[in-house]
Amino acid sequence: MADDKEVIEALANEKRLFEPSLEFVKKANTASSALYEEAARDHEGFWARQARELVSWFTPWDRILDWNLPFAKWFVGGRLNISYNCLDRHVESGHGDRVAIHWEGEPGDKRTITYFELLDQVKRFANVLRDLGVSEGDRVNIYLPMIPEAAVAMLACTRIGAAHSVVFGGFSSQALADRINDASAKVLVTADGGWRRGEVFPLKSQADEALENTPSIEKVVVVRRGGNDVSMKPGRDHWYHELMEEASSDCPPTPLDSEHLMFLLYTSGTTGKPKGIMHTTGGYLTHVTYTFKYVFDIKPETDVFWCSADVGWVTGHSYIVYGPLANGATQVMYEGVPNYPGNDRFWEIIERYKVTIFYTAPTAIRTFMKWGSEEPAKHDLTSLRMIGSVGEPINPEAWMWYREHIGGNQCPIIDTWWQTETGGVMISPLPGVTATKPGSATFPIPGVAAELVDDAGKRVERGGGYLTLTKPWPGMLRGIWGDQKRYQETYWSRFAGRYFAGDGAKLDDDGYLWLLGRVDDVMNVSGHRISTTEVESALVSHPNVAESAVVGANDATTGQAIVAFVTLRGGSNVSEKDLRDHVAKEIGPIAKPKTIYFTPDLPKTRSGKIMRRLLRDVAEGRNLGDTTTLADASVVDELRKKATAAPNED
Ligand code: WT7
Repeated sequence: MADDKEVIEALANEKRLFEPSLEFVKKANTASSALYEEAARDHEGFWARQARELVSWFTPWDRILDWNLPFAKWFVGGRLNISYNCLDRHVESGHGDRVAIHWEGEPGDKRTITYFELLDQVKRFANVLRDLGVSEGDRVNIYLPMIPEAAVAMLACTRIGAAHSVVFGGFSSQALADRINDASAKVLVTADGGWRRGEVFPLKSQADEALENTPSIEKVVVVRRGGNDVSMKPGRDHWYHELMEEASSDCPPTPLDSEHLMFLLYTSGTTGKPKGIMHTTGGYLTHVTYTFKYVFDIKPETDVFWCSADVGWVTGHSYIVYGPLANGATQVMYEGVPNYPGNDRFWEIIERYKVTIFYTAPTAIRTFMKWGSEEPAKHDLTSLRMIGSVGEPINPEAWMWYREHIGGNQCPIIDTWWQTETGGVMISPLPGVTATKPGSATFPIPGVAAELVDDAGKRVERGGGYLTLTKPWPGMLRGIWGDQKRYQETYWSRFAGRYFAGDGAKLDDDGYLWLLGRVDDVMNVSGHRISTTEVESALVSHPNVAESAVVGANDATTGQAIVAFVTLRGGSNVSEKDLRDHVAKEIGPIAKPKTIYFTPDLPKTRSGKIMRRLLRDVAEGRNLGDTTTLADASVVDELRKKATAAPNED
């Protein structure tokens, strides 16, 4: 990778630099390089201080870290309870009346839940779970819409030492059954349905289908949300509200070992079988509490935080449930889509609750660009003081649009790189310290050690390489449920002694890190390595382009050819030739797409990731494989029709 100097130099032309404002710096939770220096001096001691200061322990640990590569144990011998840290301690310190969650349903119904109320519900539900036969060490499956009960169920598990396995409500019954069976979950918590795009989507009927093939499930708890008809199997199925009414609210938190299994979260790898990523108690909580304090700069007394992810993804686990609650923060939780009833729903919510910190995904930002800056302009967004991004590389153009139209040109942007596997943020600016460049996630945060390496595993100090992590960190995955061999092979075998993240990245002349996407998204055209992300950024930097996805399609002459799928901004037009020239101008002629397909939408997973595998299939004229994880399957049919028409290369 390091040899591709030409390309990398062409890509490293982003010169804009944004220093945090003096006003922001003055109030920032950290505004100097002290944390970086402390962590560099004493990695373990640094994390131990965070664990001591930010987390409450019933029993202190004996050893900070047992590291037997690739197996880590953090805060060994310590005992704690996560729900105690997220709830009881705030109530005990007099903040029971503080709002934990401002919840808003898609139809517009609202609920305000204080820390005291949330604790009460969690204690009751913990007793409900116990009464249903759940004990310490069992797994509980959660399949819910974005309602507060999702947080209640998760926290209740942590209170009694059951591990939760949350499955995103958009997954099919088959996906749910696979995950329940892999985890051997004993209880399933679901709902009748939830609201999405103005309609109720059924969950219980999906669950019922899954339950035909999930022998481990003994009991099912059903939250009433959609109001849709459901069938309840006597003896097995119970209504949440009925159980909660009878449940006692006396439930002391169970002191759990620091390495006690806290949750499983399934994520896809390169094979068809999803991996149950394992996270444990003390290290995970330390990592998310620390990052939420310093990366998100939370001031629990005054901030209103909003993360627009779903609790079914790791972002929702770490920065809706555990990070914010452990810090005693107030947050907004929203059930539905961003375009119901209008394209300004998010901005309306920010205005209504005076949100101060907003965290979303680049794919959402590009969608907002597509809808036009007049949508956010309808609302007063001046409450915002910081905005963040996660999930994929953010194109400089999208970054600039976000800065201007959402952040009012004054909010720092945190572009946070991390993974389901890392538990919490790993690479990101510290908003009161780091000068940001549009599109760069900047530097590893204090306590995280990252390096780029080339194919041979040799360290790369400048230019492109594979992203690796070189020191254990508290929030790291502890393995893959039931398959520690796969854990070792997937993450620790490609480069000796290093965690291989699967992402490509480059280091610019100032040492800034630029994430380039998964390494399987890196194309090779005539022996030149070009990132799909870089071409996408070039395309999106054209004023008429809203969104683009780029794939490398097999090509007899050049190895791979660049194929671009492009969505134009509403009402605008541009020729293929102009776009190709534009890319040539931005990156170089080598990066010019061979073919460009114009499409009103891109195929995305329900979590918003563009499905490049499908696009490669389309580009190479192959039959399409499994499309069941697509949010909207019709998008692909449309694209296929276009691709079978004559290609239009100039
Ligand atoms: C993959 C992990 C972390 C929560 C959401 C995704 C990509 C994530 C960034 C970023 C560039 C990013 C990486 C990573 N990714 N954040 N800021 N810049 N790429 O979690 O589903 O486990 O996906 O998302 O490719 O490996 P995930």
